[in-house]
Amino acid sequence: KRVAVFASGSGSNFESIVNATKGKEKGYEVVLLFSDQPTAYALERADQLGVSSYFISPKNYPDKMAYEADILGLLMRYRVDFIVLAGYMRLIGPMLLKRFDGDIINIHPSLLPEFPGLDAIGQALEAGAKITGVTIHYVDEGMDTGPIIAQEKVEIKPSDTYDSLQKKIQKIEHRLYPQTLDQLLRKGETIAKTSVN
Ligand code: GRF
Repeated sequence: KRVAVFASGSGSNFESIVNATKGKEKGYEVVLLFSDQPTAYALERADQLGVSSYFISPKNYPDKMAYEADILGLLMRYRVDFIVLAGYMRLIGPMLLKRFDGDIINIHPSLLPEFPGLDAIGQALEAGAKITGVTIHYVDEGMDTGPIIAQEKVEIKPSDTYDSLQKKIQKIEHRLYPQTLDQLLRKGETIAKTSVN
């Protein structure tokens, strides 16, 4: 499957998803990095990794529909068939949801449905939670709401700081996201092949 990763920030998950395919047979290939932020470090990582990257500014469009129509054009040019959100700080609208129905996933740094939205790590610390984690889920029109695909727990120790907790969470993300994506898309291939025969 041909995957596009959407990222607004650092792009460390994007990098781990690309690196997992290096020299290996995987159920996916990353063909495109898309960003809504001109200064996203993910764009630089894409250059270093040799992945095509595009920034399109939402400011140049009257509404989300028009913005996503142009993104869709880009995705069609690259024959993308699956979208992976990795720190993409924008809700996906009906235009992309309709065309990529069931083919968009996201990663969130909490055990959803706990601590959705912005700064899930800060929310967990603030709440005095003893356990948090990572969730990978299908994307729907809500904020961090679609059906859950994979979750992994992380213990919050009294000695944990924001930074130490974030490090533990990212370490899990960088393993779990490529692994889940591979399993998901490999399965898709098998199903497609069986139905053709
Ligand atoms: C990750 O923690 C992810 O769970 C959240 O945003 C962060 C993105 O980090 N949705 P990066 O840009 O992949 O480094």
